[in-house]
Amino acid sequence: MKYHLSSLLLGLSTMASAAYPVSQHSFSRTDARVTHLDLDIEVNFEKKKISGVAAYQVKLDERAKVLILDTNGLMIRKVTLDDETTPAKFTLGQTVKHLGQPLAIEIKPTTRKVSVEYETGADAVGVQWLEPAQTGGKQQPFLFTQSQAILARTWVPCQDTPSLRMTYDAKVRVPKDLMAVMSAQNPTKKNSTGIYTFKMEQPIPSYLLALAVGDIAFKAIDKRTGVYAEPSMLSRAVNEFSDITKMMDATEKLYGAYPWGRYDVLVLPPSFPYGGMENPRLTFLSPTIIAGDKSLVSVLAHELAHSWSGNLVTNASWEDFWLNEGFTTYFERRIIEAIYGIDQSKMEFMIGLHSLQEQMDEKKTSKHPGDNQLFINLKGRNPDEGVSFIPYEKGALFIATIESAVGRETLDAFLRDYFSTYAFQTMTTEKFIQLLSEKLIAVHPDKSLAKKLQVKEWIYGRGIPSGAVKIESDAFAKVNAELAKWENGATPSKLETKKWATAQWIYFVSKLPKKMEPEKLAELDRAFRFTKSGNAEILVPWLQSAVRNDYEPAYSALEMFLTSVGRLKYLRPLYTEMINNPKTVDMAKRVATKAKPGYHPSASTAVSHIVK
Ligand code: BES
Ligand code: ZN
Repeated sequence: MKYHLSSLLLGLSTMASAAYPVSQHSFSRTDARVTHLDLDIEVNFEKKKISGVAAYQVKLDERAKVLILDTNGLMIRKVTLDDETTPAKFTLGQTVKHLGQPLAIEIKPTTRKVSVEYETGADAVGVQWLEPAQTGGKQQPFLFTQSQAILARTWVPCQDTPSLRMTYDAKVRVPKDLMAVMSAQNPTKKNSTGIYTFKMEQPIPSYLLALAVGDIAFKAIDKRTGVYAEPSMLSRAVNEFSDITKMMDATEKLYGAYPWGRYDVLVLPPSFPYGGMENPRLTFLSPTIIAGDKSLVSVLAHELAHSWSGNLVTNASWEDFWLNEGFTTYFERRIIEAIYGIDQSKMEFMIGLHSLQEQMDEKKTSKHPGDNQLFINLKGRNPDEGVSFIPYEKGALFIATIESAVGRETLDAFLRDYFSTYAFQTMTTEKFIQLLSEKLIAVHPDKSLAKKLQVKEWIYGRGIPSGAVKIESDAFAKVNAELAKWENGATPSKLETKKWATAQWIYFVSKLPKKMEPEKLAELDRAFRFTKSGNAEILVPWLQSAVRNDYEPAYSALEMFLTSVGRLKYLRPLYTEMINNPKTVDMAKRVATKAKPGYHPSASTAVSHIVK
């Protein structure tokens, strides 16, 4: 039964943004807040549907007459108050682009609990249903969710904004031979009932809600950490990630005790659209970071670092995204430095800065040059549009610049205090600027510090401020020297590359001249076997070069990669390169058509934008 709440809903959008501001990417309001979610759902692989009941404990202030939840593509079956027998009046509002529909539920001043019976729609963007053929084991289907930025609402009705937090419990029914895991306390074994229960006792924002279901096994690395993966992946993953114990020790020394209990990781099938996702207690990882030589574990360090920057102190809105990612990218490199040494972390910084420079140049002449600021404007846009190297790399460079100005000890003390003071709270860019000026700049003996730091220029300016710390790497100076030799005619086999670290190869490939004769690529390929590289950070820039320069012998590897990997960071540049070369446009279209059914819905959409 549906009721109309026209009087309540009249002017809803203006009320949401004016009287009870939350975020421009959510319909939810602060006068009626969800403090706890109790999820009771079933995962049906035949129907590709999640269905069940989401029950909310709510906290109301005296103004509250309506609880508003975000939904996107959900079917709402029934809504009840308190005892689950009193039907509530509810209405689903108009669909707004990117945001979905507000579910407005009429509540009483005495309401403490609201229950919503719902099911997911056919194309829930936050969920990917994998056929057995898309998994490592090939026998069982797999499901995973990706809620960041605003996709939790496609699989659970919720107050889908990073500025509000809730605890949660869940009961999840899955087919008997599969196991379920969540961003919560997890089982380590399958059980015979197919029913799994979960508890997240610390308050989290909705974008950290996560679920995966499949033929999943667990192996411990140490007392508080282990790996979940398909059985065929498990031992490789455990070997690759065995430094996690050291990473955790290093991070705790820097920023204080790990606040979430256990820290486990889940390795997903290759269609997972990100390198990693910092779901609390259970980081989700792409199998593309398992290179066999630990050379890509900075992604693991990154997701671990989010346990503080992001999950503990959270960006208040998606426009403050750099507070999550910039800090985390800086921390990631501090962790890498602590374990693998300063040369390694500098190389990773420089690879990041190279990508930053390229992206800033692109953005300058794009529709959104303002994306080159740290604080960005996402009005009317999907927050995913703000995901670029700028919040990550410009953000990290800003923090590194602060470090070099005030010294490591002072910065670390400031950060430790920051995490303990604002734990389980949100942070805005403005508040952070205020903290910097009160707790760091005002108390610092160097009275010219404010001028040196150029805080406003970093955050609201569109370039790299003049005072940015200079990062240099001897190892990369060597790479540049060998590259120059090659460009001056030396044959590849004469180059001194014997002792190179993987990062040096990544840099080498990304610094190749933009324009080359195909024969030059063939020569490099014969010497260094780039087309056969099992390291995606080498292979992808190499394949970009191949497409740009008509090096056809690499095209079957390219097609193979695009039809087996769904990580957006790689799909975007590869398809873009193919579309930019008239000779590979048809190939781009053909491969996209073939590969898209295997991509995650958001990756599929992103590819469609590139390959029209
Ligand atoms: N939280 C992000 C992933 C994300 C961001 C998902 C925005 C959806 C919207 C995660 O921590 C991340 O940054 N992943 C990176 C790897 C990282 C090492 C740069 C990725 O997926 O490439
Ligand atoms: Zn991140």
